[in-house]
Amino acid sequence: MCGIIVRAGVGDALGELLTGLENLEYRGYDSAGVALRRSDGEIAVCKREGETEALRSDLDADRLSGAVGIGHTRWSTHGAPSDANAHPHTDGENRVAVVHNGIIRNHETLRAELRDRGHEFTSETDTEVIPHLVADALDAGRDPSAAFRSAVDRLEGSYAIAIVVEDSDEVYATRRGSPLVLGLGETANYLASDVPAFLEFTDRVVYLEDGDVVVVDADGYQISDVAGDPIERPVETVDWNAGDARKGVYNHFMRKEIDEQPVSLRQTVDGRIENGRSVLSEFPPGSLSDVDEVIFVACGTSYHAGMYGCTLLRRRGIPATAVPANEFAHEPMPLSDRTLVIAVTQSGETADTLASLRAAEESPARTLAVTNVVGSTAAREADDALFIRAGPEIGVAATKTFSSQVAAIALLADQLEASGAGRPDRRADPAQSNDRDSHDASADTEGSISELDTLPDLVETVVNDGGAARLATQYSEADSYFFIGRGVGYPVALEGALKFKEITYEHAEGFAAGELKHGPLALVTPATVVVAVFTGRNDDRTLHNIREAQSRGAPVIGIGPDSARAARETVDEYLSYPAVDPDFAGILANVHLQLLAYHAAEIRDRAIDKPRNLAKSVTVE
Ligand code: F6R
Repeated sequence: MCGIIVRAGVGDALGELLTGLENLEYRGYDSAGVALRRSDGEIAVCKREGETEALRSDLDADRLSGAVGIGHTRWSTHGAPSDANAHPHTDGENRVAVVHNGIIRNHETLRAELRDRGHEFTSETDTEVIPHLVADALDAGRDPSAAFRSAVDRLEGSYAIAIVVEDSDEVYATRRGSPLVLGLGETANYLASDVPAFLEFTDRVVYLEDGDVVVVDADGYQISDVAGDPIERPVETVDWNAGDARKGVYNHFMRKEIDEQPVSLRQTVDGRIENGRSVLSEFPPGSLSDVDEVIFVACGTSYHAGMYGCTLLRRRGIPATAVPANEFAHEPMPLSDRTLVIAVTQSGETADTLASLRAAEESPARTLAVTNVVGSTAAREADDALFIRAGPEIGVAATKTFSSQVAAIALLADQLEASGAGRPDRRADPAQSNDRDSHDASADTEGSISELDTLPDLVETVVNDGGAARLATQYSEADSYFFIGRGVGYPVALEGALKFKEITYEHAEGFAAGELKHGPLALVTPATVVVAVFTGRNDDRTLHNIREAQSRGAPVIGIGPDSARAARETVDEYLSYPAVDPDFAGILANVHLQLLAYHAAEIRDRAIDKPRNLAKSVTVE
């Protein structure tokens, strides 16, 4: 879960490498470094503990001049954050410099073997074996490309790697289990862990596959396998623009991305609803009719979107379960060829989610990736991909992608229902398959999918509501924050608590509203703020749960529809959203919760876009 940037072109590389590193900081930010091949052929390295800013202020630009270079921003897995453990790593004689994302599982064996041959190591990282392996192969008389391939052949684990070698204008790189994408510019070519790293320089990309080895210089690139046999990959154009990946007038990407939700949601939905029904071009008529059950596998916020999706599907009569990806991967469930396993993942690169996708692929089940990143590993490995089209999300805390994930899953749920999924009886008679009123479970969802069209405007009113900022200040002294909800409000309560804890570092927990009385109530005191999510469905039950908390002295913030009089009158404070189908109420309530967390973190002066110990893309299990 580190970030790699490579630049090979004409003119000086340093500026573009630093821009790339800053664009990649959401992947890790405990140390950063660059290595450039200078015009005299030597390799110059500079690396520092801390963010790219620390590196930038310490750079000797004269020493680090050169047209070809590699850069890295790190999130520690082996070895604490320090100058020594920062990347790039070099061999003893500074002939080879390496940046690496992932884990080399056999690094201890390789290290022992290299030590026996006289190599000395200066860091605690698994990465450091790579430059030594390459240097060994150069000493054995191999050219740099062959030396790199022979080193890669010795590695076990998951990795994306890029190296520069003294006296060579080329960069050598490979991937296995960690992302790496090639960018093709006018005056330079790039490699990076993710497209936003070089988006301001080019939008023409080649998505590399596991096992690809690529040689890049100013003039072009060649892809081969590890044996050196050539491979062709298509050149694609990405439709994100560089402005999307910049902060602009905002202090934080998170706030920008919260505000972008009306636009990102519209992008998710545009062209996907016709005559009140979802029409996902990814699934031609009949292609979903043999689905009997759905299992969502995902992590963190994406898991909450999967839980939300379960409620939407079950209400349409389709059995659905959400399982945390790491649990699913290692405790597999019985799956049949009528099971649809949906991996929900913003990045498409989360290791736990990929592991669960791969476990499902070994079963008869069909797999689908719901993701934001075209060309991501999940999109390529699943049988099908449904893109949420939210645009780049840079803040570590997921915001706009949650709304878009839920909207995309709602569209899918509608299409599954129309296909007769989950109801083998209806499949026998296709004439029934669009008849919503013929079964109770979906009777009250009539027309709801059309409401997705108006949802962006409703989100706009919540984004512009100042209530969350006021309450974040008013309740800033609490000991704990409990979030409760039911139905689609339950995953939203979990998501509200996750967002709150990850960026404020305060104690926050989410519960199903009815669970409060089964244990957590023992913790409720006047210093516990209870945030209750109302959706317009079963709200009277949530009111009972609130009263239990209020009778222990806890202040309660309600989040619910404008029209919910009883809720408004019961709670201490109320944040409202416009009337909406209860299926989508959770999306609106969640925007208030995002803002509550954001402002609470702002008051505490937290590193909102880069919370401690967290990285945007978790590419290790
Ligand atoms: C929380 C957050 C994480 C991610 C999780 C999965 O704000 O962003 O919990 O949701 O790491 O990431 P993706 O969706 O990329 O698989």
